Amino acid sequence: MATPVRHLHQHDGETVTVRGWLANKRSSGKIAFLHVRDGSGTVQCVVSRAEVSDEAWEDVKRVTQESTVRVTGIARRDQRAPGGVEIHATDFKVKALSDDFPITKKEHGTAFLMEHRHLWLRSSRQRAALRVRSEVCQAIRDFFYEREFTLIDSPILTPTACEGTSTLFQTDYFGTPAYLSQSGQLYLEPAAAALGKVYCMGPTFRAEKSKTRRHLMEFWMVEPEVAFLELDGLIQLAEEFVCYLVCRVLERCRDELAVLERDVSRLEKITPRFPHVTYGEAIESLQGAGYDVRWGDDFGAEHETFLASQHDKPLFVSRFPAAIKAFYMQPDPQDEKLALGIDLLAPEGYGEIIGGSQRIHDYELLRRRIEEHQLPLEAFRWYLDIRRYGTFPHSGFGMGIERFVCWMCGLSHLRETIPYPRMLHKIYP
Ligand code: 4AD
Ligand code: MG
Repeated sequence: MATPVRHLHQHDGETVTVRGWLANKRSSGKIAFLHVRDGSGTVQCVVSRAEVSDEAWEDVKRVTQESTVRVTGIARRDQRAPGGVEIHATDFKVKALSDDFPITKKEHGTAFLMEHRHLWLRSSRQRAALRVRSEVCQAIRDFFYEREFTLIDSPILTPTACEGTSTLFQTDYFGTPAYLSQSGQLYLEPAAAALGKVYCMGPTFRAEKSKTRRHLMEFWMVEPEVAFLELDGLIQLAEEFVCYLVCRVLERCRDELAVLERDVSRLEKITPRFPHVTYGEAIESLQGAGYDVRWGDDFGAEHETFLASQHDKPLFVSRFPAAIKAFYMQPDPQDEKLALGIDLLAPEGYGEIIGGSQRIHDYELLRRRIEEHQLPLEAFRWYLDIRRYGTFPHSGFGMGIERFVCWMCGLSHLRETIPYPRMLHKIYP
C-alpha cells in the first residue's frame, strides 16, 4: 500500500512506498535526488547507486519528467528537506515512461499553457490555486449548513433569461429554444417560500462578448436567498459570508498562499465592518477624481478599481439607478428611480465579487417590469406566482467563485481559478 506524501511525517524511520509522477531529477553518477509528486505533496527521494539493485539504478537513469514511478525506502524527517521529510530509497521503479513533457521549467506563453491546460494543472501554482478553490467551496457549504440553509439545486436548462437577454447561450430543447442558466436566483425565490433560507451553487453561463481578465463564459456562482430578509440584512449576510471565507482560506491554505506568493497581510485586514457608499456618492467621488462619468452610467472596470482602491476592505455600493439593473430589483421607497441592489467590490483591483438585491414582491409592479424589459410574460408566469400565493419581502445575492478565488490567490486572471476555463472563442481542451 502506498503512503500519501502528505502523511509521510507520521512514518519517520519506517519503510514506505510512494506512487506518483517524477517532478524533477538531479543526479551525479553515484547519487540521485528525485522529486516525486503524488497529488497530496512532493517528496525528495535520495537514491544511492550502492544501495539499490542494478535494475533500479537503470530506471533512475532512464526516468523522464512526469513518468509514473514507485519508490520504496525509509522515511526520514529532515528540516532541510522540502516538506520536512525525505525518503532514502531501497527500490525505485518506472511504471510508465513519459514522453517529453511539454511544460518545463522554462517560461511558457499563456496561449501555450492554455492549450495544454490538462497538463498545466500539474504545476505547483495551478495546484495551489485549485486547492484554494476547493477549500472555498467547502467553506461555502459549511457556512450555509451551519446557518441552517437548505441547498436547492437550480436547473441549468431554462426557458427564461435572468440577467439580460444579450448574454444568453441558446440551445434547442426538443424544438423550442432553451437557455443555459445565467443565475439560479429565479428558482431560489419560490424555494425560499418553501424552505425559508436556501442557497444554490453551480455553473452559470454568460455569452460575454468581451475579453477581459474578469469574465468567463462558464463560471460558478453561489447564491443565497432568504425570506423576509431586506437590504440591511442582506448586506450583513454578505459581509459575514466574505469574512468567514477569507478566515477559512487564511486558516487552511497557508502553504498554497505561500506557493502563490500571496501577501497575506492584505487578507488579514478583511474583518467586519465593510465600508459602504451609495451609487450617487460613488459617482460623485469618481467625478471628483476626474473620471468622465454621469449619473445613470454603469461602472466600468477602472471605476470599480478606483472606488475599491480607497479602502483596505471590500466596499459595498448600493442604490443603483433602476434603469441599469435587472428587472426584479425592489425600488427604493425613498426614491423610485433607485433599486435596492448591492454590489461588493473587492480591494486590490479585483472588482465586483458579489451582486445582489432585495426582490420586488408586489405582483403588479413585477408584471410591469417584465413588460418594460420586453421579456415574455408567459415564460415568467410561474415566477409571478410567488407574488400571488402569499407574497413576502426577500433578498439574495450571487458571488462568482472564480472572482473570489482570484482575489484570495492574488492572481491576475480568472483563467487560473477554474480547472478548465471557458473563454471567448476558446473551448479546448
Ligand atoms: O451581478 P450578477 O450578474 O448577479 C446575478 O446573477 C444575480 N442573479 C445574483 C443573485 O442575486 N442571486 O452576478 C453575480 C456575480 C458577480 O458579482 C460576479 O462575481 C460573478 O457573479 N460573475 C462572473 N464571474 C465570472 N465571469 C463572468 N462572466 C461573470 N458574471 C458575473
Ligand atoms: Mg453584477
